Amino acid sequence: MKITGDLGRSREQAQVQEKNSTWLRDRSVATRCVHSGSLPLPSKTRPKVMPIFSTSVFSFDYLDQIDEVYEGKIPGYVYSRMRNPGIEALEEAVASLENTPGAVAFSSGMAAITLSVLSEVSKGDHVVAAKVLYGGTYTFFKDELPKRGVETTFVDINDLDAVKSAMKPNTKILYCETISNPLMEVSDLERLAEIAHSTGARLFVDNTFASPILCRPFEYGADLVIHSGTKYLNGHSDVTAGIVCGGKDLVAGIRSLATMYGPVLSPFDAWLLLRGLRTLHLRMQRHSENAQKLAEFLKNHPKVTCVHYPGLESSPYHSLARKYLKKGYGGMLSFEVIGGIQGARRVIDSLKMVELVPSLAGISTTVSHPGKTSHRAVPLNEREAFGVGDGLIRVSVGVEEYGDIEEDFRQALAAI
Ligand SMILES: Cc1ncc(COP(=O)(O)O)c(C=O)c1O
Repeated sequence: MKITGDLGRSREQAQVQEKNSTWLRDRSVATRCVHSGSLPLPSKTRPKVMPIFSTSVFSFDYLDQIDEVYEGKIPGYVYSRMRNPGIEALEEAVASLENTPGAVAFSSGMAAITLSVLSEVSKGDHVVAAKVLYGGTYTFFKDELPKRGVETTFVDINDLDAVKSAMKPNTKILYCETISNPLMEVSDLERLAEIAHSTGARLFVDNTFASPILCRPFEYGADLVIHSGTKYLNGHSDVTAGIVCGGKDLVAGIRSLATMYGPVLSPFDAWLLLRGLRTLHLRMQRHSENAQKLAEFLKNHPKVTCVHYPGLESSPYHSLARKYLKKGYGGMLSFEVIGGIQGARRVIDSLKMVELVPSLAGISTTVSHPGKTSHRAVPLNEREAFGVGDGLIRVSVGVEEYGDIEEDFRQALAAI
């Protein structure tokens, strides 16, 4: 049964709808089961909030309308793996925050990362990547890309001479994180963009830890900005999502790969993510304030041997952080305690309010153990070589009252 697709009803449309509805009332219960309730929104006013377009496909009124929509002659959607209004609203919002012409949403951060990279490389190409990265990304570069004939050279991303000399004529991507997981190194984005572009490569930046509130890599020359939307963008630990932002052509190529491989975001998760995004600026400010205080507390604690936080003046990345993280140094920090893994276990197991959670960036303070979670697939000797030993605890500092967070760490550290 055909129902007009307009949101607002004209008198004629209302009459058609009335007729359809009367017609349907005389059908069998099975037919009514399938067709009833498919009404256009009976309203000339707009919903205040973008609705959830939980539909896999869109209906057409006549055959040639399919061509008209495909050819862009009339506005319309076809199939949600290709485009969906609620997902587009999210993409537009994140592109606006990142100051990029376009964005594509995915069903996870890893889908965003892997398909973005695959859209750019083919057999015989080369990638230069930071050696400190989210473990899943590192493993993708190290173990998965070689199967497709693509080699990666891992470098200390802050050793710009090493980065330069790792670049080859066939290097297609220079890849880093704005703030690295889990050591909180800050990348010199402007210089890295110069290096990438001078050899014809593109700079891809995972901006998950900073969020567009603290840093917008595109403004410093990055070609593609990647997010695990599972983290700060959503902020409430109830969505798994990814999103990439960049120039129109690059994004269009990635979108066509996403449409082909299919790891698209669900309309409901897009809606939740857009809702979370509305308070991103407020959350990032509070995350950063609390993390700064906790980093200072931990730094002065006798049982803590080192703290990684770019907001600390003693951090080797503090001057880069001052340049690139203008609105706060972020909510993530990591630290080590005396006693290595035993000490770390005592602290983690003694926390009362702060939960052990193998993710990050929710509103509550959580800890994670990179060696057992995000970097589990990276062999111990490899991770130890770049500073991710078994004594490292990563903290995602939440938006609670700061005193309650400090109190929990104080009592947990006393247990060592
Ligand atoms: C920096 C960073 N990038 C990407 C990812 C992968 O995102 P997802 O878990 O949404 O696939 C993570 C996951 O923890 C991450 O920390």
